Amino acid sequence: MSKAGTSYVCSECGGHTLKWQGQCPACGAWNSLEAGAAPVKRTGYAGEVKGLRLADVAQAEVERVTTGILEFDRVLGGGLVTGSVVLIGGDPGIGKSTLLLQAAGGQPSGHKVLYVTGEESLQQIAMRARRLEVATDGLSVVAETCVEHLLQVLQKEKPACVVIDSVQTLYSEAVSSAPGSVSQLRESASQLVRYAKTSGTTVLLVGHVTKEGNIAGPRVLEHMVDAVLYFESESDSRYRILRAIKNRFGAANELGIFAMTSSGMREVKNPSAIFLSRHPEAVAGSVVTVSREGSRPLLIEVQALADQSGGGTSRRLALGLDQNRLSMLLATLNRHAGVSAYEYDVFINVVGGVRISETSADLAALAATVSSLRDRPVPQTTVVFGEVGLAGEIRPVAFGEERLLEAAKRGFSHAVVPRGNLPKKPIKGLKLSGVDYLRGALEALDLA
Ligand code: TYD
Ligand code: MG
Repeated sequence: MSKAGTSYVCSECGGHTLKWQGQCPACGAWNSLEAGAAPVKRTGYAGEVKGLRLADVAQAEVERVTTGILEFDRVLGGGLVTGSVVLIGGDPGIGKSTLLLQAAGGQPSGHKVLYVTGEESLQQIAMRARRLEVATDGLSVVAETCVEHLLQVLQKEKPACVVIDSVQTLYSEAVSSAPGSVSQLRESASQLVRYAKTSGTTVLLVGHVTKEGNIAGPRVLEHMVDAVLYFESESDSRYRILRAIKNRFGAANELGIFAMTSSGMREVKNPSAIFLSRHPEAVAGSVVTVSREGSRPLLIEVQALADQSGGGTSRRLALGLDQNRLSMLLATLNRHAGVSAYEYDVFINVVGGVRISETSADLAALAATVSSLRDRPVPQTTVVFGEVGLAGEIRPVAFGEERLLEAAKRGFSHAVVPRGNLPKKPIKGLKLSGVDYLRGALEALDLA
């Protein structure tokens, strides 16, 4: 045992060691250990604590406040819950500050909102607020990056909601490492979480995510906060998708869809068909699927390009789909449908920058690949969904009928779907092909 009080803290992962080393034994980062306080061991028992019967625990109604933006409210599960802490992450420039400034101004009048900026000047924010025509009656701004100072401001101002833009710029005097480091991030956020819980103030934290740097990013805060929302988008698309990764007060995986316009983020009220690229005529390698992201069906175009590889190992690249799953699907395609893609590089792209996180897009990804391999287009009025199993079977997915109804509503006339998803009653205008195996699915799509 070492003397009490000496310990080294990793500025990357926050891990403790008793001896200084060149490399952190917890996360493997180099030169990241700094002298710090040893973790306090608490073993004391506070006295008589009794378990309470769950049925006897008084239920508090959660109180929700609208942000004035329907799609944002929807992702939150129906509005901001008073006293909750929400983390909003995304790449730089995706529109976090824009959306939160609009949400700060959109709250009911009489609701005091404090916008804390560590990145932009107060003038810049005022200019943006004017341009976005944000209601500024209850809205105050402050430029502050020290959490302890900030908490004093909050105690004085007592806002109902605080926006921190961004949590990476905050630092606490209690920790010696640089702002943006993991230990700073954790300490600053935990002070704010404690403040939110004791005061009933809603706290919105903005966090930048770097493409590769999840470690130093806001991921480490995910377990501390009540809800985690992430923006996803393609860099050149004007659509922005906000997805709830975690939500203690609502459904996870709920999606909100926005369009970035010259006057800020506008909600897209009817998003079901914005992820289609609308070619003038059918092209090989493009297949439409119905995904059910969040609580509504979305028609999404999956594109594939199969190109003769130049020797060596062939490449598999998937944007918007899981890459490992693609390799697995291509192996299934070879073994169970006799279509080999080994001599081809296969690229898959989901149009519009949306990420499909469910397996219902399996069949569409394979159909698009075969369509590209054979250079044979699938008609634009055909829609395809279904999970592909390792035995080449096509498995039904949840909410099949709802997906089919959405496709029919959007003018699709043929659906190739798992047999288990066929509705009991026919759907007007939609020809249904129920399939059991991959081979049958390719036949129904005229790709065999
Ligand atoms: P911003 O909200 O500053 O992004 P973040 O806070 O996530 O880094 O948005 C930055 C981009 O959005 C910037 O490139 C300009 C664009 N933008 C618009 O297109 N319209 C607008 O009304 C605003 C405010 C920004
Ligand atoms: Mg910003």
